[in-house]
Amino acid sequence: MDQKLVSSWFHLHSSVPLSYVQPPESRPGMVEASSKRKIPVVDLGLHDRAETLKQILKASEEFGFFQVINHGVSKELMDETLDIFKEFHAMPAEEKIRESSRDPNGSCRLYTSREINDKDVVQFWRDTLRHICPPSGEFMEFLPQKPAKYHEVVAKYAQEMRTLGLKILELLCEGLGLDQNYCCGELSDSPLLLAHHYPPCPEPTLTLGAPKHRDPNLATILLQENDINALQVFKDGEWIVVEPIPYAFVVNIGLMLQIISNGRLVGAEHRVVTNSGIGRTTVAYFIRPTNKQIIEPAKPLLSSGARPIYGSITYEEFLRNFLSKGPEIEQELLLKPS
Ligand code: OGA
Ligand code: NI
Repeated sequence: MDQKLVSSWFHLHSSVPLSYVQPPESRPGMVEASSKRKIPVVDLGLHDRAETLKQILKASEEFGFFQVINHGVSKELMDETLDIFKEFHAMPAEEKIRESSRDPNGSCRLYTSREINDKDVVQFWRDTLRHICPPSGEFMEFLPQKPAKYHEVVAKYAQEMRTLGLKILELLCEGLGLDQNYCCGELSDSPLLLAHHYPPCPEPTLTLGAPKHRDPNLATILLQENDINALQVFKDGEWIVVEPIPYAFVVNIGLMLQIISNGRLVGAEHRVVTNSGIGRTTVAYFIRPTNKQIIEPAKPLLSSGARPIYGSITYEEFLRNFLSKGPEIEQELLLKPS
């Protein structure tokens, strides 16, 4: 693994190794991304809940992507969290591997490119530390013990993400006309934290940090660094750059909410490009259901006779298919018109 981590060898190369060169149609240099269009900004600090609700629903229907401001998480905690993960990814490879493999069952692990990448012909320019962070606080003993403040900071961050995540889900569910707690139980009880690191890249026009994808969750809350443009959203046939707003979080809708809302909310497609000269670290908090949970269009949304466009599937089965089949799974989930 230590030979494979991009962080371990990127500095030895002045060009991108062939195994990282994307086919021409996927290269970021091929189509200029737009920085004129912007993804919506949702102010969670408004006193007018109806207005917040309107904003968040519109953003989730039209873009499936937005940035939230006045979200209640302190700047200090956001800085500390990014610093911890930057420090983690800057540790020697052997140390990173040791600190991320304490659980023989793999609740915490480190990988490069994509987790299931044996079928990938082309690799992606990133390393990722991932671990579950259940609200019960279980599995804490398997988290890295280095950097020294890892437990303290990450436990606090996960707690704040849970609070923010539930607040966002409540607004979305209410906006859809569901009970505001519809998504607050088993549907969101198995969160995952992914700390990505995208090292500087000698030829950013040839490679990608992450391919075009939709997230396999209800929603993602992303912490990214100020001043580095790398995340892009695919909308109306063009790529839109998500320019970081200092101390905002980027939120995107995942495939599970697309299904639950019967297609009203969109799990937007996005990708990550690399930069020369500067590395980038991000922290993605995935709001996810427990494995046995059944994912299907919410029954109350069908009471007026609306036709479900998706079938039912357990989250476990969805994930298995998602990992083995990739994006094709989206077509399979759609019910054929009868
Ligand atoms: C993800 C993702 C974006 C980023 O974790 O699914 O899209 O900028 N991350 O790291
Ligand atoms: Ni994503």
